[in-house]
Amino acid sequence: MQLKITALPGDGIGPEVIAQAIRVLEACAQAFGHELKVTEKSVGGAALLASNDPFPQDTLKACLDSDAVLLGAVGGPAFDKYPPQLRPEAGLLRLRKELGVFANLRPAICLAGMESLSPLRPEIVRGTDLMIVRELLGGVYFGARSTHGEPGSRRAADTMAYSESEVERIAHVGFNLARGRKKQLLSVDKANVLDSSRLWRHVVTGVGAGYPDVKLSHMYVDSAAMALVSRPASFDVIVTENMFGDILSDQAGAVVGSLGLLPSASVGGKVNLYEPIHGSAPDIAGQGIANPLGTILSAAMLLRHSFQLEDEAASIEVAVKQVLAAGHRTRDLAEKGAPSLSTEAMGNLVLEQMRSAAVQA
Ligand code: IPM
Ligand code: MG
Repeated sequence: MQLKITALPGDGIGPEVIAQAIRVLEACAQAFGHELKVTEKSVGGAALLASNDPFPQDTLKACLDSDAVLLGAVGGPAFDKYPPQLRPEAGLLRLRKELGVFANLRPAICLAGMESLSPLRPEIVRGTDLMIVRELLGGVYFGARSTHGEPGSRRAADTMAYSESEVERIAHVGFNLARGRKKQLLSVDKANVLDSSRLWRHVVTGVGAGYPDVKLSHMYVDSAAMALVSRPASFDVIVTENMFGDILSDQAGAVVGSLGLLPSASVGGKVNLYEPIHGSAPDIAGQGIANPLGTILSAAMLLRHSFQLEDEAASIEVAVKQVLAAGHRTRDLAEKGAPSLSTEAMGNLVLEQMRSAAVQA
């Protein structure tokens, strides 16, 4: 099979983690006899510096011309002074919008034996295996925005807006995913206060009528945040609007050990987008110590969701699990003061693990 991928390393630790994920994809393609073609393009602050646009036309064209897009991270303090439309984050939002990826799947799993990575007690985090389905193209991220008035008396506003069809399509994604798992869908909103949430709840409930085999429940986002740290293992699939999903998925990352481990897939678009859920981590960028596993696992999701290459995806995921189970840790995962691996060394271990599995097969 031909796998045509656009890689967007972006900013901060993005290029470091993307480099490892590409090595893993190359090894995987070779082992399974696929032809991998990776085109690298710029996005975010890197693109801003090169061409004064955080999402250049040429990058959009390459993305639309490929089968899947793998992104590192965007943003950094150096870009805080730029006007909103030129910020790296605006480039990422345009990328998501142009591709049409409205459903962002963010799994958070506490692997057996890996409970000690969590800041929570092992008995609380044990067995956590949840999937956050974050709506990605609506809500307050894309609603009308304004700032009026003079310094000292300014007023700023952001609008959280949803149409029925936007809620419907993300609800279907949630129900279908739940169907393939434990058949429990939790819809998270703030329907006790927000109109957009009241509509959300109404529409999700309506869509649920078509999925009688899935148990649908609803929770306000504040309770959900609390439940996520007090009983994370009780969740299956969570469907929620854009900003609630942004917040809860960072929290879910911390619950299972590190944001650095979590991959994501943004699907439903013309071309789908895969990225770790962590940011550009400017504090550790350029030091070669970032955890590449979230990006490597995003590459596995890419193979599964964009190419239906389940065995290939699993070969990467199994290798990552084995490396972690053997006790190898990057700095974000290591106990305080304990020795830790570089980004590249972690990539090497995953590659070795994949090779030895291929030899045994
Ligand atoms: C994420 C990030 C982005 C978001 C930022 C970088 C715009 O936090 O993917 O979760 O808020 O969606
Ligand atoms: Mg986020």
